[in-house]
Amino acid sequence: MRVEKTPMGWNSWNTFGQNIDEQLIRDSADALVRTGLKDAGYEYVVIDDCWSLRERVNGKLTPDPKKFPSGMKALADYIHEKGLKFGMYSCAGTMTCAGYPSSMDCEFTDARTFADWDVDFLKYDYCYKPAERRGYQLYRRMGLALENCGRDILFSACNWGTDNSHEWMGTTGAHMWRSTGDIFDGWKSVKQIIQQQIPILSYRAAGCFNDMDMLVVGMKGKGNVGFTGCTEAEYRTHFNAWCMLQSPLMIGCDVRNIDQTSLNILSNSALIGICRDAGNRQPYMLGNEEVPIFVRHLEGGNLALGFFNLSDGDFSFRTTLDDLGLPAYTGKTLSLTDLESGETLRPTNATLSIDLAPHASKVFRAKVIDL
Ligand code: GLA
Repeated sequence: MRVEKTPMGWNSWNTFGQNIDEQLIRDSADALVRTGLKDAGYEYVVIDDCWSLRERVNGKLTPDPKKFPSGMKALADYIHEKGLKFGMYSCAGTMTCAGYPSSMDCEFTDARTFADWDVDFLKYDYCYKPAERRGYQLYRRMGLALENCGRDILFSACNWGTDNSHEWMGTTGAHMWRSTGDIFDGWKSVKQIIQQQIPILSYRAAGCFNDMDMLVVGMKGKGNVGFTGCTEAEYRTHFNAWCMLQSPLMIGCDVRNIDQTSLNILSNSALIGICRDAGNRQPYMLGNEEVPIFVRHLEGGNLALGFFNLSDGDFSFRTTLDDLGLPAYTGKTLSLTDLESGETLRPTNATLSIDLAPHASKVFRAKVIDL
């Protein structure tokens, strides 16, 4: 299975943790449709950890009948009828992170079970991996099991960037891979995850997206990974960074009760267009890790340009057109469109200047034009 575009969806973990059941999942699927988030591209509805019984039944992973009395196939049918796709969760070690059965040494059986339930997406975690086992072997096994289970299932690897997984995750068949630790709903966590991407910008394989973890936009400090919450500017910077670096966009808030501002942030089609650009090209960075400028060549000759003031003071960004591949001899400049406000600007000399408040950011689509 080939995944051409950055995956998008919703996942139960950030807000609900272990407090999940089939009604919540159905209501969340309904909410994705009602709010227009489905139309914006969010298609996978993913149940995270804590869905199963504590023991296998006849060797198979089995949903907890108290939480999922209708079973997983019925839930998949419900989600598919809405035009959405269905995701589930397991783990490469001896137990899931919350202590439920996981798939080590049962990879092919479990892939078959997920296929029988019409699952379209598998998140595959890394807790309780025995020290003597190699992570790349366990992920390669599940990659093979999914490719041979008779159904297209997106393989979402989640080993938090440990054991040098940037070097080998692209070999496993994973379509996306968590490059960093778990996100929390606070600026410190968002900033840390953005900065941790910098050394691994060049580690990406076509169709294997670098996953910066589920979004916290809209959580406002509530829920399982709720922490201090973020300001609106910080949530925008979080979303901007995920789009600039082509991270999968998996919503983590309670979409049944989402507020309008969060909805606007998550539904920005111009930014989503940058995130899902068909070029899938490697970004590069100018500036430094406190005030990075991320740049990506888009399919068709435009550039995506993201200015991120991660520092706690005001900052004036200055970059030259030469730094962006347009020295003076070309006779070219850029026409930039701000993807939040829609405003356009055109540098009048060879320097681009952007002033930003602390924790603020701006992403532009830039078109190469004659001077
Ligand atoms: C790990 C993962 C999280 C979540 C939990 C579930 O911490 O990184 O995203 O899936 O396990 O227990």
